[in-house]
This record gives sequence, structure tokens and C-alpha cells, in this order.
Amino acid sequence: MKNTRPRVFSGIQPTSEMHFGNYFGAIKNWVELQEKYECIYSVVDYHAMTMPYIPGELQSNTMNMVIDLMACGVDPEKCVLFIQSLVPEHTELTWILSCYTSYGELQRMTQFKDKSESEKVQEKGNIVSTGLFTYPILQAADILIYKAEYVPVGKDQEQHLELSRNIANRFNGRHEIYFKEPRVLLTEVPKLLSLADPAKKMSKSLGDQHVVRLFEPEASIRKKVKSAVTDIGPKTDTMSPGVANLFELLKACGKMDEHKALMEDYNAGLLKYSALKENVANGLVDLSKQFIDRKAALTESNRDIEEQVHAMSDKARAIAKETIREVRDLVGLPVRRH
Ligand code: AMP
Ligand code: TRP
Repeated sequence: MKNTRPRVFSGIQPTSEMHFGNYFGAIKNWVELQEKYECIYSVVDYHAMTMPYIPGELQSNTMNMVIDLMACGVDPEKCVLFIQSLVPEHTELTWILSCYTSYGELQRMTQFKDKSESEKVQEKGNIVSTGLFTYPILQAADILIYKAEYVPVGKDQEQHLELSRNIANRFNGRHEIYFKEPRVLLTEVPKLLSLADPAKKMSKSLGDQHVVRLFEPEASIRKKVKSAVTDIGPKTDTMSPGVANLFELLKACGKMDEHKALMEDYNAGLLKYSALKENVANGLVDLSKQFIDRKAALTESNRDIEEQVHAMSDKARAIAKETIREVRDLVGLPVRRH
């Protein structure tokens, strides 16, 4: 039977071990979307090469990310989950689409400006690579090759999505209406802040003390939450970002009763930060235990997990190959036999 649910595509880079910011801000949503959409999710290892990285670590980080996603509930029975570079058609389409993308459009991408000026890229021995510059074309190819209608991403990726639509439009204008114009699927997701510095986003690039990792040992999770920054400076009438972030985390963990009770304490001026932290730590530890158990079960019961990842990538490749066949014909390239 043909799948008639609208198609969703999204990707995540295998750059660091997953933390609760990624989980609540993106992956939890991926898991929920599987019920209503035909979802195709990718661990985008080609994208991870655009910033300085350690080649010896990329392969294992990529496979780990696939397993971590499955431990979080991304289910190969319900979606297609694959490794981007196992579908080389993505790069072939990137080349073709680069001939439909203007240099000026790429220059306007704020992520390129930010990343090319970042300390890491500016370090001696590193370069601002062309890969970093053409990154958004590869992203457009990821989405368009599957003719996805919706792309769940955060606000920071909206500009890339707009570019993907422009590329699709330009291509359709020169040939025929072929690509679907992908739209951002905006869902209410919390933006979580660093516990150590609530003026900043929870992000691995700031350092390990700024994130709580999904598979972190319990004692370490509890320690980080306990030492979370709450108030800085003189007391004001509005809730400080650190305290608001702890409430946000509690809600994200699904601890609604605790959230309500502690919020009442706060409003009455009776809130003990230690109680709030204890509840947040319990919520994170409960979830983390689930993830750790599922990961253990996955890696133990399914020795052939790599086999499974390759099989899922072949599924994605079958779709991608069909698109490439049609696109080559449209743009005037010989149609390949295989
Ligand atoms: P990154 O690891 O920063 O590339 O992020 C991967 C995904 O997780 C993206 O969809 C981000 O929007 C999301 N994400 C990362 N950090 C956070 C955070 N602190 N709060 C909410 N979402 C986040
Ligand atoms: N650029 C995205 C990010 O950093 C990752 C990504 C690559 C992506 N290809 C994609 C997201 C296609 C959505 C669709 O978060």
C-alpha cells in the first residue's frame, strides 16, 4: 500500500554525544512525529566534515548517534533512519543543485558567517572550507531528494529552509514542477539553558559542565543539577533565568504535578531551590535510566545493529536513486544504467 501520510525529513549532525537540550528541543519531537507522518531521519556525517573534526572519531560517533536515536525512541519499524554518507546520491544532487544556487545567496547565510568566524575555524592550521560554504546546498539536497513536505527544525535553521525552497523553485521554474517546496514544521519545543550559565543555551560547545548528557552517570547528573546557577545579582520581582530554566526542565520531564506544587511555593515566596533541584534531578535521572536501559538492550540483543543501519540506509537509497534518475534526465545528463 502506498504511504499517503505527508513526508517529513530531518537531520542531526554526529558532532557530540546527545544532551537533554537536543532531546527536549528536537529528538522528542522526532519520536512523536513518527505517529502521524512518514518520517525519514538522517545522521548527517557529510555535514559534520564541514567543521574541524577528528577523522578517527567520526565513524564511531555516527554509528553511536544512530543507536542513541533508537534508544530515545526513533523506531526503525515506524520510520527510515539512515546514515547520510551511505546514500552518496545526496552529494550528486548537491552538485546539480549548486548550479541552481547563486553565490550571493550562500554569502547571506548567517550560519556560514558565524561558523567561519568561530574560534575553532580560525585556529591555526584550520581553514574556512568550501564545504562550510556549500553546506546549505547539501542540506537542501537532503530534503529535496526525498521530496519531503515538512522539516522539523529549530529557528536557527529557518534561513536554510528558505534557501531550500528558493532552490526548488528555481529548478521547477527552469524545468517543470518537480520538487516539493519544503516547509518548516514548527512545534512548541523548549529552549533549554546551560545550568552553569543560564545566560547561554545548553550547548556542548561551551564545555561539558554546560550540558547534561542523556547517558551520563546518575551521580554526575545530580551534581550538575545541584550546582545549577539560580539567582545572580539582587533579587527582582521576575523569575531569574536560572530558576525559570529549572522549571522548564521539570515540565519537559513530564513532572507536571511537581511543577504545579513548586510553582505555587514560588508564588507564595516559599520555594526552596534545593527542593526544585531535587525534583529536576529526579526527572532527568528517570529519563536517563530509560535511555540507558534501552541502549543496553539494543546493543546486547541486536548484535547485527550495523547490519540493520545499512539495511535502513539502503531503503533511503532506493528513494534517492529514483529521484536522481529523474533529475539527471530533466537537467540533460545521460540516464545511468545502474
Ligand atoms: P546541535 O547539537 O546544536 O546541532 O543541535 C541539534 C538539535 O538540537 C537542533 O535541532 C537544535 O535546535 C536542538 N538543540 C540543541 N541545543 C538545544 C537547547 N539547548 N535547547 C533546545 N534545543 C536544542
Ligand atoms: N543543519 C542542520 C542542523 O545543524 C542539520 C541538517 C542537515 C538538517 N541536513 C538537514 C536538518 C536536513 C533538517 C533537514 O541542525
